[in-house]
Amino acid sequence: MKKTKIIDRNSFLKYAEKYGTPLYVYNGDLIINRYSELYNYITWPKLKILYAMKANYNVGILNLLKNNRAFLDTVSPAEVHLGLKLGFEKEDILFTSNNITDDEMHEVKKTGVLFNIGALSSLEKFGSVYPESKVCIRFNPDVYAGEHKHVQTAGSITKFGVLLSEVDRVLEITNKYNLKVIGLHEHTGSGIGETEKVYESMTSLLGIAKRNLFPDLEFIDFGGGFKVPYSPTTKRIDYASFGKKISSIFSNFCKEYGKDLFMYFEPGKYIVAESGHLIIEVNTLKNNRGRLIAGTNSGFNHLIRPLLYGSYHQIENISNPAGEIKIYDICGNICETGDCFAEQRELSEIREGDKLIIKNAGAYCYSMGSIYNLRAMPSELLIVNGNELLVTKRPSNKELAELVLSGSNLN
Ligand SMILES: Cc1ncc(COP(=O)(O)O)c(C=O)c1O
Repeated sequence: MKKTKIIDRNSFLKYAEKYGTPLYVYNGDLIINRYSELYNYITWPKLKILYAMKANYNVGILNLLKNNRAFLDTVSPAEVHLGLKLGFEKEDILFTSNNITDDEMHEVKKTGVLFNIGALSSLEKFGSVYPESKVCIRFNPDVYAGEHKHVQTAGSITKFGVLLSEVDRVLEITNKYNLKVIGLHEHTGSGIGETEKVYESMTSLLGIAKRNLFPDLEFIDFGGGFKVPYSPTTKRIDYASFGKKISSIFSNFCKEYGKDLFMYFEPGKYIVAESGHLIIEVNTLKNNRGRLIAGTNSGFNHLIRPLLYGSYHQIENISNPAGEIKIYDICGNICETGDCFAEQRELSEIREGDKLIIKNAGAYCYSMGSIYNLRAMPSELLIVNGNELLVTKRPSNKELAELVLSGSNLN
């Protein structure tokens, strides 16, 4: 695998100058390396890595992954349409439905992509309208894991998946409508630090497969959740050992099962998180009774993870890297007190006009963004092999106001 070129401080300053800030910059070479290395770590040969595009639907990133023969995990009809429009084959896309309307069900079914269904009533409805279809069933593996309670997607307090104990009801419905269950699925959570939890949830789901209830099984999908370190003190998981262990669990299962099935994973964060940086500019400095507050030209509408999950993102002052270390709150320009990227953070001295980079901003940052306070989303720049691709251009304030007006019936 090619060594990934990192984007250095001077390049970030150059991009900020050229494209303006706030600006998202993604390292496309790192994305491809992260995607490809999973195939080296997980040695089971019948492996498919589906990129969970909810993490970042940037069209440049999707094209890059498609050109590297990636598969896609989608969660909404528009994600399915976008994937297909970009040239992903329908066979390479999985649609994990979650509380969809009937219209959405018909809309996605027409595209021909495979449904992954995680509720008995949805399965019943799907079977009654589309008997004899192929389908994947999402189970709740009853394992709690993930870096925040909002991203733990299994266990007692979750809306996701069919209970393991409800497998007989699944069988009743699939038999009634002659549905062909070709896949079993689980997704335990996002940012799983304890690898044991992954092995545990794999074992839960494989327990269902081992009962030989579904003769048409082609794959088992163990979801996403591969953790990346956000803080400099967090140790990176040894993915080589992890990959070997999960391959061995799966290979032992297949021996016992009597057939070599495909193993799927659906990482989002692992593939794109570390590739992303948000460059912002400090425009206001304030001293609130000794508390230094750096006000910037971005906010939680552009990167909500600190506010939503209390997430830590490393921040660096790229304009004054050798400055004296001081303690700052790094805040945004949104009219809410919670609008801070970091509180009481050590950073080299900040002057008005300095550029800061927020690291690990590739996953669940732009894709969770909004135009709250009517502030436009930043432009997005993708760097591949030194080439700059401005994938998304930030509208001006006037253009944003026009966009709002043009979307209204009243104009
Ligand atoms: C069904 C499903 N698959 C995959 C993922 C991707 O998770 P991650 O980005 O943590 O790998 C998610 C995210 O929540 C998900 O809900």
